[in-house]
Amino acid sequence: MDNIQNFKRTNYCGEFRMAHVGQTASVCGWVQRQRDLGGLIFVDLRDRTGLVQLSFDDSTAKDIFDKASTLRGEYVIAATGTVREREAKTDKIPTGDVEIYVSELRLLAKAETPPFEIVENSNANDVLRLTYRYLDLRRPDMQHAIATRHKITKIARDYFDEQGFLEIETPILTKSTPEGARDYLVPSRVHPGKFYALPQSPQQYKQLLMLSGFDRYFQIARCFRDEDLRADRQPEFTQIDLEMSFINEDDIMGIQEGFMKRVFKEVLDVDVQTPFLRMPYREAMDRFGSDKPDMRFGFELKDISDIVKDCGFGVFSGPVAEGGSVRLINIEGGAAAFPRKKIDKLVDFVKTYRAKGLAWARLIDGGVTSSYAKFLTDEENAAILQRAGAKDGDLVLIVGDAKNDVVFASLGALRCEVAKQMDIIDPMDFKFLWVTEFPMFEYSEEEGRYQAMHHPFTAPMVEDEDKILSDKANCRARAYDIVLNGTELGGGSIRINTPEMQQKAFQALGISDEDIEERFGHLVNAFKYGAPPHGGLAYGLDRLCMLMAGATSIRDVIAFPKVQNASDLMMACPDVVDQKQLDDLCIACTKTEE
Ligand code: AMO
Repeated sequence: MDNIQNFKRTNYCGEFRMAHVGQTASVCGWVQRQRDLGGLIFVDLRDRTGLVQLSFDDSTAKDIFDKASTLRGEYVIAATGTVREREAKTDKIPTGDVEIYVSELRLLAKAETPPFEIVENSNANDVLRLTYRYLDLRRPDMQHAIATRHKITKIARDYFDEQGFLEIETPILTKSTPEGARDYLVPSRVHPGKFYALPQSPQQYKQLLMLSGFDRYFQIARCFRDEDLRADRQPEFTQIDLEMSFINEDDIMGIQEGFMKRVFKEVLDVDVQTPFLRMPYREAMDRFGSDKPDMRFGFELKDISDIVKDCGFGVFSGPVAEGGSVRLINIEGGAAAFPRKKIDKLVDFVKTYRAKGLAWARLIDGGVTSSYAKFLTDEENAAILQRAGAKDGDLVLIVGDAKNDVVFASLGALRCEVAKQMDIIDPMDFKFLWVTEFPMFEYSEEEGRYQAMHHPFTAPMVEDEDKILSDKANCRARAYDIVLNGTELGGGSIRINTPEMQQKAFQALGISDEDIEERFGHLVNAFKYGAPPHGGLAYGLDRLCMLMAGATSIRDVIAFPKVQNASDLMMACPDVVDQKQLDDLCIACTKTEE
């Protein structure tokens, strides 16, 4: 095996163009492909910038030619030679006009045949890709995604620095912060039976930093949440976390809009329009069935409860009588796109959102076929189509349920699914939205009590302050989410900054005085020493990278992600540990995985 002594790379592989012809160049990387045509050998060499062709022929020194003939895919080599114009050019790769005619070749490492091909858009399955993540990361699309992530992080640091923010690190070994998910716990050896929690976010620390007078804080912060995973959730993820003092919502939103403008321009050359649209939570739910609506298309929800409440069709009148509602979406041009069979699939789709069914009307060729018309009067049918604004060629989809949550969730998801199937969404259209005026609390059926919708440090809206204990269901918070194309990119709020209001917020959540002292004493006490008005926001960096890299899962923008069951397939963890380690921590396992 050769070594890399006295070898100096002059260029990355992807850089070569006609302007380099005649130059001597030294490159290194992995063999993508070797083609031995007898008296001619071509090697495609790959590094993180792309591919370049190396060539060898019968004028090449014999030892070099022989070495080239032994090269196989993924061998690691270094080569020096002269850049020359190719005889057979290709426009498949940016360096396709030229090649390097090699005069020195070093074999630095051999490689076994990888378990999948190292190519763009691999069709290898996820388990294989993640078990061999170091190979998966060699693929150009992964290299691009990780480089995009670096750019975004760098711009965040530059931008917030220019805006006067200080980057301050906060602890990873800390006390539980209630953000709604379970904590990852770390046992203490020195304090047997006691545990640190990994932070779900740096929320309390950043608020305390405002009290310390740092005024503008930011951090690229690693967060940990033991919750069910989805395409946009990982147990450990990264936030761009911010907090500011002496500000209101407009100040915070203005700074974030500036950041989005900058990052989209510099990374994607996209001009983002500011200021972003703002919409109260209630309106977002009523119009789009979601608190993170995709604003790139219409298909808005319309409530038809008033039309059907006394109709003879129980599927519609029943939900209204039980306190729920019946709502529809009108899919313009949907009649042709959704023949009966495809509508049946949509029925199955809404059932995954707990809807009992989906009623529909297709307006086609001047007539209407429908799943429900025969149960209603002509007036009721006409009123529904009129409310929908339906015209010939459209498809009306209706869901009724005693639980409004079910109606919103199913129609909210359905409008996105239908738009996706109709292929009307432009992936390069970026539509931002601030969703504001979130409810302060949401009722958890599971827990049988109210929980904080954002977190318990969020201030109530000034006009709703006196509802915090007496009318929890209607108390709105000074909380806001930044939404992009149907994804919640970030969330934040103006915080409570008096001990009295903080105490009330905890009380509203049913936390006893004892518990408040035990769990949050540090914060409530700190507020006694002069807390400036403050507020902030945290972006999910992984989600921002996913949307900007055009990925469909945050896994694709995280170098070493976890899978659905929160394990790391490459490192094979979580894993058992030595009994000695457990003994040191005074831990006895009562149950272990098979
Ligand atoms: P929140 O809990 O809304 O707010 O989180 C902020 C943003 O973090 C991202 N995010 C996640 N990304 C990947 N995987 C996860 N499991 C995950 N959970 C959340 C989302 C989300 O919008 N401390 C507050 C912020 C504040 O009030 O300033 C907080 O963490 O993009």
